[in-house]
Amino acid sequence: MSRKVILVTFTSLMLVFILGLGINSLAQEEMPFGGADDVKFANNLWKAMQGYEDWPMSSGVYPGTSPHGEFLRMYYNMVHVDGTPYHIIVKDNYGGEDATREMVAESPGDYLAAVTIMLQREDGYDPENNNWFWVKYGPDGKIMQNPKGVALAGRVAKGTGQACISCHANAKGDDYLFSNDQ
Ligand code: HEC
Repeated sequence: MSRKVILVTFTSLMLVFILGLGINSLAQEEMPFGGADDVKFANNLWKAMQGYEDWPMSSGVYPGTSPHGEFLRMYYNMVHVDGTPYHIIVKDNYGGEDATREMVAESPGDYLAAVTIMLQREDGYDPENNNWFWVKYGPDGKIMQNPKGVALAGRVAKGTGQACISCHANAKGDDYLFSNDQ
């Protein structure tokens, strides 16, 4: 091969590589949920909200509705994530074989199945859906994933007609909140 051919081949390969990178990062930016920024925010949030079980504004254990747990507890507060204050609603989802309200209230840790979050992000995060940031954590604080392995953090699951946003869109008052509907 002549030097020229090698040079042309090399340049084309580099171009394909750079183009590939570009498309890849574009796809990441446009991911409505489970992208690197959302996962990072959710992990920082988990650290920031530790101790939420003792927040003064919280409910007792009450019977839940599907798809949330058999029993629930709800907590409200402001949290600072990366120095910015946000409104947050935390919902503990409990379940387990023949769990009763008394048993859950007695030892919540034994029945905690998931921790679901709604946190109001800055303007522009998701203007069509009230800028809510959604997360589903396991009881250990690990972000749970959908069947495709995408982390349930961010605008979950915008554009799919399923999960958090599309169901909460049915709440009265266009605020995506069910608990203030009565
Ligand atoms: C099929 C419908 C449905 C889906 C899907 C759903 N939720 Fe909910 N969610 C509800 C209902 C109904 C309530 C009120 C339950 C209650 O407190 O009795 C609720 C309550 C909540 C609350 C307390 C604030 C409020 O609206 O009262 C949070 C936080 C929450 N959900 C987070 C999530 C997250 C995060 C997801 C996705 C991972 C999700 N939800 C998926 C129906 C749904």
